[in-house]
Amino acid sequence: MRKPFIIANWKMNKNVQESVEFAKAMQNAVPLGEDVGIAAQALSLYSMRAAIGDSPLRIIAQNAGSQPAGAQTGEISIESLADAGVSHVLLGHLERRLLFHESNEEIGKKVATALQFGVTPIICTDEEKIQVTIDGEQHYFFHQLTSILQGLSPKQMRRIIISYEPRFAVGAKQAASPKVAETTCWQIRQSIADHFGKKVADEVRILYGGSVTPQNIYGIVSQPNVDGALIGRASLDIQSFLQMVNCFQTAKRQKLAAI
Ligand code: 13P
Repeated sequence: MRKPFIIANWKMNKNVQESVEFAKAMQNAVPLGEDVGIAAQALSLYSMRAAIGDSPLRIIAQNAGSQPAGAQTGEISIESLADAGVSHVLLGHLERRLLFHESNEEIGKKVATALQFGVTPIICTDEEKIQVTIDGEQHYFFHQLTSILQGLSPKQMRRIIISYEPRFAVGAKQAASPKVAETTCWQIRQSIADHFGKKVADEVRILYGGSVTPQNIYGIVSQPNVDGALIGRASLDIQSFLQMVNCFQTAKRQKLAAI
């Protein structure tokens, strides 16, 4: 079974001290063997990692530059992130695309650099699919993902995590329904299978993001093709985040029981 992953995306919230305190409070609450992470502002990442030592809590960056080093004023080097103990990086988040006009080409370069330095890319995608019929079979084409992932080997693809974050749900009042989240995650998996083979597609984790709350998380993450969640506003409060980590564990146990 794919290992579920639950991630807090704090966006541009919490100062260094608040981030460190939250991480310290979380480190003992993360059940052993679970993938739980926090994507905090870049300024806080090093201090968070230093404060929690080798705790399995994942410390995640929200963005990075496309080059390991060099003339990219204002960007954050993936090599430096790796050096600071960052294990994953969000790439191509909807807000990066809308507010900072990030292109698929640029995101693709960032993915390649992250892989080069052993930082796992979590590629966010908000797009609608195109449905095509080939030899009587339905196939799904996701333009953003196809352009970002082209050129990767199946071995590299296995290391990628995808997060489906529909724009109607990010920062909105309502999440996608569990059915919509499941259907789209399944279709993304089919499109990965078309490009990289079924075995790789079965291994890749596909998360959902957009207005996830303690009230709706269970319905979403208990879907067979939804391997976890990326949570914005509802992750800023520690009790709310812990409640979602617990729901997510229950969903995982039920999925295991169903195998
Ligand atoms: P909200 O949970 O606040 O809608 O944000 C979702 C998000 O952007 C996850 O990356």
